[in-house]
Amino acid sequence: MSALNVLAVVSEIFPLIKTGGLADVAGALPVALAAEGVSVRTLVPGYPPVLRALEGGVVVATEHMFGGEARIVAAKAAGLELFVIDAPHLYAREGDPYRAPDGSDWGDNAFRFAALSRVALLLAQGLVDGYRPDVVHAHDWQAGLAPAYLYYAGGMTPSVMTLHNLAFQGQYPAYLLGALGLPGDSYTVNGVEYYGAIGYLKAGLQFADRITTVSPTYAAEIRTLAGGMGLDGLLRARADVLSGIINGIDTTVWDPANDSYLPSDRAANKAALQERLGLRPDPGSLLFGVVSRFSVQKGVDLILAALPALISAGAQLALLGSGDASLEAALRAAAGPDIGVQIGYDESLAHLIQGGCDALLVPSRFEPCGLTQLCAMRYGALPVVAHVGGLCDTVIDANEMALAEGIGTGFHFSPVTSEMLAATILRVDAVWRQPEIWRQLQRNAMQTDVSWRRPAARYAALYRELANGSYGGSNGTMGTGELAVRSAPS
Ligand code: ADP
Ligand code: GLC
Repeated sequence: MSALNVLAVVSEIFPLIKTGGLADVAGALPVALAAEGVSVRTLVPGYPPVLRALEGGVVVATEHMFGGEARIVAAKAAGLELFVIDAPHLYAREGDPYRAPDGSDWGDNAFRFAALSRVALLLAQGLVDGYRPDVVHAHDWQAGLAPAYLYYAGGMTPSVMTLHNLAFQGQYPAYLLGALGLPGDSYTVNGVEYYGAIGYLKAGLQFADRITTVSPTYAAEIRTLAGGMGLDGLLRARADVLSGIINGIDTTVWDPANDSYLPSDRAANKAALQERLGLRPDPGSLLFGVVSRFSVQKGVDLILAALPALISAGAQLALLGSGDASLEAALRAAAGPDIGVQIGYDESLAHLIQGGCDALLVPSRFEPCGLTQLCAMRYGALPVVAHVGGLCDTVIDANEMALAEGIGTGFHFSPVTSEMLAATILRVDAVWRQPEIWRQLQRNAMQTDVSWRRPAARYAALYRELANGSYGGSNGTMGTGELAVRSAPS
């Protein structure tokens, strides 16, 4: 097997910069792909923390880009092979990569992320001597223009678009078309046009040779009106190139046997967690954990509404997260001896919750994959998940039949309402009171392979298929019959 070169294009990467699971995926997948004979270089924006982390970078090209100089730097950081766009006029801003300190999106995000895709095109065209990717792998809307740029430049390199979350689509005014370097005739329903604007994610989904999302169930959900968030028509039209590949987690970062954030065994971790969040120190109460962004997606409001049931069952809650200001305020107000709340982002507490809680609540209204339930399983905390998306695909509900067969790894609930969550908390409590059964479920969860081994093999197979030239399928022109004609990549 010859080594295959993949250029990953992504707006965040763990451990350099992270707002969510996208960064975890971008940081861990290259390592797992190396074992599959795939060599990944990742193109990322040069935000200050990224530039600070670089080890011995070399400037490989300089380009004028959207009003300033962009130096393309080849460098390593945290074991990752990177191309970094050092363009101070676009990225020299501390804090959140997408938003200004007042919480509004940066006004020039259209250019900040078009630059990311533009550099991907240049790299595919041979910008750097001795480097040419066999496949370009774009992640989410921030990299969505990459497949479109490649297409309009002649489609010399095949592309994969991975969809991590349909809720973020990146739409910008039509008058930017020329400034973004997109041809005039691209502004059609079969091009980059999307509801009267330029759709970055839409463009990626339209022009990528393959589309993946992060679980098979989400891949099915997004083709429906209810789950498609406006893109279901396009995703149905491109169903022949759409597949779901479940995420793994980095089992070196999330390793319960070797986790510097954890004091010791589960009992000690639980005690430490109770102490850290000011909870009543009681080893006997069922302790639920939550590690989440507070957005409509994550259903944290359902947890708030189910708190009376949780308290009446004699259980406790350890919750970490941030986001929606009204939810933050309501949770702070609910805190007490059985409800521990920390608002913010905290890597060490996230690990302590996974290592110390008995069960992790993930009541998402939709969830493309979800990573926290995978961490929970590896740490022996049983996930309690909404029956949606990747949560369906990764957790086996401990219903009567599963218990009889000894195969459950957690609990599902549906419909995704506070009433059903409350009822499920009581169901979990009933199982918790049967320690032998609980321990069996913990063993099942901990033995589940949540690593990147299998998913990486699937991505590798997909890349090889594309690199071998078998990608002349539909380019998503939604019924006009126009097929992409491309030469096989060298
Ligand atoms: P999403 O990307 O939609 O937020 P995922 O479950 O895929 O959801 O990934 C979330 C990632 O972010 C996990 O690695 C989780 O541990 C981490 N995370 C979420 N909220 C926090 C927080 N408040 N503090 C620390 N880590 C967090
Ligand atoms: C998104 C999704 C989440 C997924 C993550 C990584 O943030 O919300 O479900 O796990 O991307 O793919």
